[in-house]
Amino acid sequence: MLILGIETSCDETAVALVRDGRLLGQELATQVDTHALFGGVVPEIASREHLRVLPRLYQELMRKTGVSADDLDGVAVARGPGLLGSLLVGVSFAKGLSLACGAPLIGVNHLWAHLLAPGLEGELRFPALGLLVSGGHTHIYLVKSPTEFTLLGRTLDDAAGEAFDKTAKMLNFPYPGGRYIDELAQEAEPDTGLFPRPYIDNPTLDFSFSGLKTAVANFVAEHPELVFGTMADPQAVADLPAQRRAALARVCASFNWSVADTLRIKVERALKQVGEVRSLIVAGGVAANTGVREAMRGVAEAGGIELTLPGLALCTDNGAMVAHAGWLLAKAGYRHGLDLEAIPRGRI
Ligand code: KG4
Ligand code: ZN
Repeated sequence: MLILGIETSCDETAVALVRDGRLLGQELATQVDTHALFGGVVPEIASREHLRVLPRLYQELMRKTGVSADDLDGVAVARGPGLLGSLLVGVSFAKGLSLACGAPLIGVNHLWAHLLAPGLEGELRFPALGLLVSGGHTHIYLVKSPTEFTLLGRTLDDAAGEAFDKTAKMLNFPYPGGRYIDELAQEAEPDTGLFPRPYIDNPTLDFSFSGLKTAVANFVAEHPELVFGTMADPQAVADLPAQRRAALARVCASFNWSVADTLRIKVERALKQVGEVRSLIVAGGVAANTGVREAMRGVAEAGGIELTLPGLALCTDNGAMVAHAGWLLAKAGYRHGLDLEAIPRGRI
């Protein structure tokens, strides 16, 4: 089965071809530099950019892989959650293509696609506990099979990635700053008393990262010497003077620890609640974080279950994960009609 995957839910335009669970090729265009000028994603610009580059990416992919639209057995598209205008570009393109070549349309939940993505690199073991940590979401799922997801916990306010990006902004790092925090964090030991681990005393599996953001804002207000000037480009981070770099590294290591340990506590709690699962799958952009990866290794080891972590390129938004999830859905008999809607938020 040959499936095309289309991803346009946020600020990455991506397409990929997956044949029977194996990646044939992919193309990706990121808009990150465009949005960096504004310190965050501007929805109107994002959708216009998708519209501009998607047809070209698709043609490039087909040319490089030698695949023709008539060969397709399915056109999978991320239908949400995400930015409505951006999603609509991908969904409309997928509908047009499906109509033209006759291959069925498969609407994919972007979050499920993230969690199923490691299946491209190895076997997924179900039932699994799934932790999705991205720029827009922090979800814990019980995943019984590739098509059965039960949401057990979610963030009540900011997502983990959002907490990283907002903290990075307060510390003056370039946007999106999660990876700069992570990089600098490697150069220091965390001060585990510096920032709170938000909402860990709440017995549910929900998260709330806004308090952590406030703690960082208070800290920054008390230490203006750490954040003066601008660091609009990565070179400025590389050129930081040693003393200021060491002080910032300690802040980053402490923040990394607070987020990673909060995730650890809630995931351990979830594992106790759900009973027997065969694996822990961690996905989304924040799954690239060194501290989070380490914490999850510890959880899986202690629980005696397999840890499934996607490689770094599969952590952030990409077309391969959509094509792969589309293939799993197609195998299970899922098809959508041309009335498929983009769903920006809520239940999909
Ligand atoms: O999954 P993703 O690419 O996009 C969404 O669907 O949201 O996740 C992007 C998020 C951003 O918030 C980014 O700062 C964060 O993932 N991120 C990281 C790291 N790499 C990416 N956060 C912490 N540490 C990293 N190494
Ligand atoms: Zn994503």
